[in-house]
Amino acid sequence: MIDMEMKLEQKNIKKFQKDLISWYEKEKRDLPWRTNNDPYKVWVSEVMLQQTRVDTVIPYFENFIEKFPTIKELAEADEEKVLKAWEGLGYYSRVRNLQSAVKEVHERYGGVVPSSKEEFGSLKGVGPYTRGAVLSIAYNQPVPAVDGNVMRVMARILSIWDDIAKPKTKTIFEKVVEAFMAPEKPSEFNQGLMELGAIICTPKSPSCLLCPVREHCSAFEEGCEQELPVKSKKKKPTLKSLAAVVLTDEEGYVYIHKRPESGLLANLWEFPNTETQKGLKHEREQLATFLKEKAGITVEIGPLQGVVEHVFTHLVWNISVFFGKVVNKPDHTYLKKVTKAELDQYAFPVSHQKIWNMYMK
Ligand code: ADE
Repeated sequence: MIDMEMKLEQKNIKKFQKDLISWYEKEKRDLPWRTNNDPYKVWVSEVMLQQTRVDTVIPYFENFIEKFPTIKELAEADEEKVLKAWEGLGYYSRVRNLQSAVKEVHERYGGVVPSSKEEFGSLKGVGPYTRGAVLSIAYNQPVPAVDGNVMRVMARILSIWDDIAKPKTKTIFEKVVEAFMAPEKPSEFNQGLMELGAIICTPKSPSCLLCPVREHCSAFEEGCEQELPVKSKKKKPTLKSLAAVVLTDEEGYVYIHKRPESGLLANLWEFPNTETQKGLKHEREQLATFLKEKAGITVEIGPLQGVVEHVFTHLVWNISVFFGKVVNKPDHTYLKKVTKAELDQYAFPVSHQKIWNMYMK
């Protein structure tokens, strides 16, 4: 930390702020959540932008705000519709937490997003990043908002070699950003850092020659911008083999299953599937046994139709896809019977959307 204090003393922080903010004000992208500073909209955008790129987020954001334009509307919305609006964005606990938090704002704070660090920061799913981003952008409070982009920028500016994959490293960067923070313009300062990380100070080949804060950058001076930040490799993801079946009956109904209310992809819908053991019995038999035991249903399953792979952060799913027919009528709640037209009211993970597309081809 003494080392850090020395590094900070060598920087002309006022000039850094001025260079960053005037660049941001000139060059900032015209993004739909930047048209006003409605705290609710800023909040929705920041939750979407965690783990997801701006280009992907834009249409989701516009659709979401059209469906749930205010705190009240999101608080009172049916969870099924909320998940549907998030379908394909991934990391679905983000939106479940957002809706819980918004309900609390609706009930406890009369629909006004609280502006204190303590109150806003104690809402479900609001961690230090979201707290800093929303309070600075919507309420102009000087609170750091440190994500991967900001760590990359500041690691280069100050030549910080701590491993950004380690959770405790983030607190170092929060202190650094606090020291650099422009107290009169926290919104422009935080968004300037984010913007710089997104369009200039990119991971692989940063555009240093266009950088408005190049003269403040230790990594540029030392020629090590490509080596920073240090980010250790994650351990290999676990592989999981599954078999799934698009199950229909002679009336054309499709049978789907709702995932449990906690854990991976909680409360999303899927085609019935089970984890399989390769080389044990044929996957089709394993699926049929599973359906008999879980849903009391007898099925006829056809040949393998293809394989869908989905990569999560720590997990890879390898799903063998089958089509099947129901032989007896199940009298069970494990599966829900819907028409093909009704299917698009239900939110499915991307992997299961791919399974459906295979069926419809
Ligand atoms: N990434 C995260 N938050 C952002 C924002 N407000 N603008 C642009 N990129 C972002």
